[in-house]
Amino acid sequence: MDGNGRWAAQREPPRTSGHRAAETTVIDVIEAAHAAGVAWLSLYAFSTENWSRPDGEVDFLMGLVRRAVRKHAPLLHARQIRRRFLGMTDARIPAGPARDIADLTTLTSRNRGMTLTVAFDHGGRRDIVEAARSLIRSGVPADAVDERSFAAHLPFPDTPDVDLVIRTSGEQRISNFMLWQVAYAEWVFPPVLWPDFRAPHFIECLHAYRRRDRRFGGVPTDQNGEHRP
Ligand code: IPE
Ligand code: MG
Repeated sequence: MDGNGRWAAQREPPRTSGHRAAETTVIDVIEAAHAAGVAWLSLYAFSTENWSRPDGEVDFLMGLVRRAVRKHAPLLHARQIRRRFLGMTDARIPAGPARDIADLTTLTSRNRGMTLTVAFDHGGRRDIVEAARSLIRSGVPADAVDERSFAAHLPFPDTPDVDLVIRTSGEQRISNFMLWQVAYAEWVFPPVLWPDFRAPHFIECLHAYRRRDRRFGGVPTDQNGEHRP
């Protein structure tokens, strides 16, 4: 979800007004994904690197996520959306937001609709390092480690590989997002800034994804999975 600061700079600084405007987009995209039958939606809200931002902006984002979690909890629950938070390990996260987030996770844990993962205080490299630590602690012999057993030590190991990553605002970077899970993801980089991004933009990204020919390192196949001549 990129471009909040630039959106604010173009209209009404300070940067935080862009974060406030982003909330409308978040709800619009959740509704659009849910309506389109997306089973897993992940939103990258705050990275381990975002702690380097000015204190005022970090505090604002902590408060915003808390207010948004409280305000939208009934809607998500009514839609049978299961909400998860990926990351959330840094001791700098204030107790209030941490508690509300834990409550929402518990409230929606049995829901069987779309799974909405909010990556908050998330870093792909940190997840891989933590998985390595967990693996070593489990005492598994080095030769017994393969990709499947390694992935089982990542947070939320039931999360499927990422199919499509949408990065708004025209920036073309991974920025430490779910590094393990994006190995074969398709990427789209719509130029629109996140606060201006709406359901039709999201649907256009899904159409772009459907037009992609995913080969996973193989060669083109026909509808029956046979190799094309
Ligand atoms: C994304 O918008 C929101 C967060 C990372 C919290 P930015 O804040 O990165 O906006 P730009 O990149 O400065 O425009
Ligand atoms: Mg940015």
